[in-house]
Amino acid sequence: MDYCCPHDIGAARLFSRMARWQRRRYEKHGFLESQRQLLEGLAQAGMTGAALLEIGCGVGYLHQHLLDQGAARATGIDLAEKMIGQARETARARGLADRTDYRVGDFNEIADSIEDADATILDKVLCCYPDVEALAKKSLAKTRRVYAYTLPRKRWWVRLGVEFMAAVLWGFRSPFRSYVHDPSVIETWVTAGGFEKRYENQTAVWLTQVYVRRSDRPRDRKLLGDLQRCGEATPR
Ligand SMILES: C[S@@+](CC[C@H](N)C(=O)[O-])C[C@H]1O[C@@H](n2cnc3c(N)ncnc32)[C@H](O)[C@@H]1O
Repeated sequence: MDYCCPHDIGAARLFSRMARWQRRRYEKHGFLESQRQLLEGLAQAGMTGAALLEIGCGVGYLHQHLLDQGAARATGIDLAEKMIGQARETARARGLADRTDYRVGDFNEIADSIEDADATILDKVLCCYPDVEALAKKSLAKTRRVYAYTLPRKRWWVRLGVEFMAAVLWGFRSPFRSYVHDPSVIETWVTAGGFEKRYENQTAVWLTQVYVRRSDRPRDRKLLGDLQRCGEATPR
């Protein structure tokens, strides 16, 4: 795999090392509190029959769970080859191989080759990327209906944790860093992209938000249905 920059090389190495551990952690303990919140918000937005795009999907358990719950298919993308290796393996083991498609790479670099999705999910990924504006805007452009993410809260204890991690990574000569991006700035890009917030929740560290495209209101869907029925009834 060719990576564009030292940050991506560092992220791919670090997260590939964590892939087996990530899978075992999920198999033993299940979803984290922040992921349960994310799933609650996604369920409220309605995932039945949806085509999912999960960016930074890790070992894939989040979208695989949504597929078990009624989503139609999923594309998982991750920088780390071994994360995608684990995701492919678990998809096969859960009988989901024909409804999943996996790609190794930096989403920002390969976005043009990725199909649009009904719902785009970024669980703890925006904080792993320096150019968060490009990542958010390119992923929004791929999203038909629901845009959902979890990212670190802008709090002093979170910053302290991130700085401590940076010192450890520096010690290991890793060029990877994580970031506490401003959630209110990200929110302005999402709302400018035509979405409105339908769900928000948080833990001590993580903020979870789920947005739905503004035109996707039940009232508008009914209006559209009525108009279509009218059109069908109109003689040609
Ligand atoms: C903190 S991990 C979270 C993994 C998974 N979402 C979870 O919560 O279990 C972040 C993941 O995002 C991936 N990642 C970061 N930036 C990415 C990008 N621009 N394109 C694709 N994957 C990315 C990393 O390789 C890593 O596996």
